[in-house]
Amino acid sequence: MRLWHNPASPFARKVRIVARETGLSDRIEEVGIMVNPVKPNADLARENPLVKIPALSTPDEGTLYDSAVICEYLDSLHGGVPLIPRAGPERWRALRLQALGDGILDAAVLMRYERAVRPQGLQWPDWVAGQLGKVRSGLDTLERECAGWKEQFAIGQIAAACVLGYLDFRFPHENWRASHPALEKWYARVSQRPSVKATVPK
Ligand code: BEZ
Repeated sequence: MRLWHNPASPFARKVRIVARETGLSDRIEEVGIMVNPVKPNADLARENPLVKIPALSTPDEGTLYDSAVICEYLDSLHGGVPLIPRAGPERWRALRLQALGDGILDAAVLMRYERAVRPQGLQWPDWVAGQLGKVRSGLDTLERECAGWKEQFAIGQIAAACVLGYLDFRFPHENWRASHPALEKWYARVSQRPSVKATVPK
């Protein structure tokens, strides 16, 4: 399998962590590419009509996207404890937490693009402030919920780790640790996992 990714992408990181946590990384070739929303990558465009990463080229299902679909696919390929519970209340809890993490990341990546890619005169501060509000209220929810996670490191916790890693990488001045002490403690612990260490954004 080939995973189209960029080492800065938090959504690709989610997939790369899942690959490592499920013992599948030996079966995946990670292909790092440059991404730019206004200059689509021609190789990726042949695999994913949305020209977005991550995308996973598989032997049996063609190319899969987006990150949630790829994670679900990888989780179906191993025989260990599922990272996405197959049924019942645990499944909805895990998927909701993943959606919360992905939603915070959507807002953070939009902010990043607004500042790094959009020409200065076209930037809209109120819109950036709206995205930042979503990041902050999402973080407050993670702060309230993380005490209940215990030792679990399933799809929702993986998404949460990708959020915190991305904020450290692109928005260090946001200083999320100052107002989220429980999350800070949780993240210090999970940052020691080999899958998290091996995928630090750069
Ligand atoms: C970034 O450079 O922040 C980035 C790269 C790819 C996808 C999302 C974000």
